[in-house]
Amino acid sequence: MKREPGSIPLARPEPLIRVDDIAYVAFAKPDLERAERFLLDFGLVRAERRDDALYMRGAGPRPFAYVALRGEQARYLGAGFTAAARADLEALARATGAAIEPSDDPGGGERVRLRDPAGFQVDVLHGWQPAEPLPLRRQPLSLNTPFEKPRRNQTQRPERRPAAVWRLGHFVLEATDFAASASWYMRHLGLIPTDVQCLDDGSPNLAFMRCDRGERPADHHTVVVFGGLDDAYGHSAYEVLDLDEVGMGQQVLKAGGWQHVWGIGRHVLGSQIFDYWKDPDGVEMEHYADGDVFDAAQPTAYHDFDPGLLWNWGDDLPADFGPKLDLRSLAGIAGRLLRGKLSLPRLRLLKQSTSQPPRPWLARRKA
Ligand SMILES: [Fe+2]
Repeated sequence: MKREPGSIPLARPEPLIRVDDIAYVAFAKPDLERAERFLLDFGLVRAERRDDALYMRGAGPRPFAYVALRGEQARYLGAGFTAAARADLEALARATGAAIEPSDDPGGGERVRLRDPAGFQVDVLHGWQPAEPLPLRRQPLSLNTPFEKPRRNQTQRPERRPAAVWRLGHFVLEATDFAASASWYMRHLGLIPTDVQCLDDGSPNLAFMRCDRGERPADHHTVVVFGGLDDAYGHSAYEVLDLDEVGMGQQVLKAGGWQHVWGIGRHVLGSQIFDYWKDPDGVEMEHYADGDVFDAAQPTAYHDFDPGLLWNWGDDLPADFGPKLDLRSLAGIAGRLLRGKLSLPRLRLLKQSTSQPPRPWLARRKA
């Protein structure tokens, strides 16, 4: 029997600290030069290059937003977050036994390096020195509406250049144990669930989580965890100047021959205008603009685990968007079934909860 979303609330542990924001995502890459060619077309800028590391940044004051470390296999390593006080690092160190260590990444400062339940690295930083923001090529476009026409005797013709990325905004993780992973991020980073999506039995299976900044607004989501068939990186998302920058970014990435994934459209949960791309290693990255922000007072909302909630308008959701069922992942699923980390009823529930076509005109594709 179907239970209403919210009938089983997402349990929230007492937070150890409350991080202020996301800082960076980290990847291993076999070919840093090839990675950089994509990232430059994506609109990031080189912050620093070392023998075995490539640091890329947006135009905003963060020293870097993305680091690629040379490694044999392309894979997601983890993410970094900023804490407002050194006492936060001390609290994490006390609770986890992890050391407070100096960081030799651009921006310096100190960090505590943790591991989430899936084994991904989570750094919490303090004393990270901001960088000088890069000059913007233009200001956000001024929009004429039926009621106000602030743009007079002026055209709307932004130049065709890579999207002006301002900052990293969020990342998404797939987790075999949704409850454990979501709980871990809430406890260690103090995240607040903004929107939670539930399976047909009412159990929470996806959480859009934001930073708890008190009265100061935070992005609708900074970390997203959803329950799936693997422990894997989903995508990371980068805020660009405005809506036209999402469109112009797409033109430049198309011209570069890179692999488009999905967009342009507007999300429902978070409201961003989005466009998704894949880097040369198949790593998904999103451009976004005009996302929602909430302060800590906004209560958690519950919804069905419905792929139709992924977008409000825009290009149809590609049939292969989301977790990939290739031979490797099928072998992984079989292994987790055997080890009891995944059950057949849960697999059936996942399938049943996403069985409605996300739009009526996509029903044929499902058949
Ligand atoms: Fe996203």
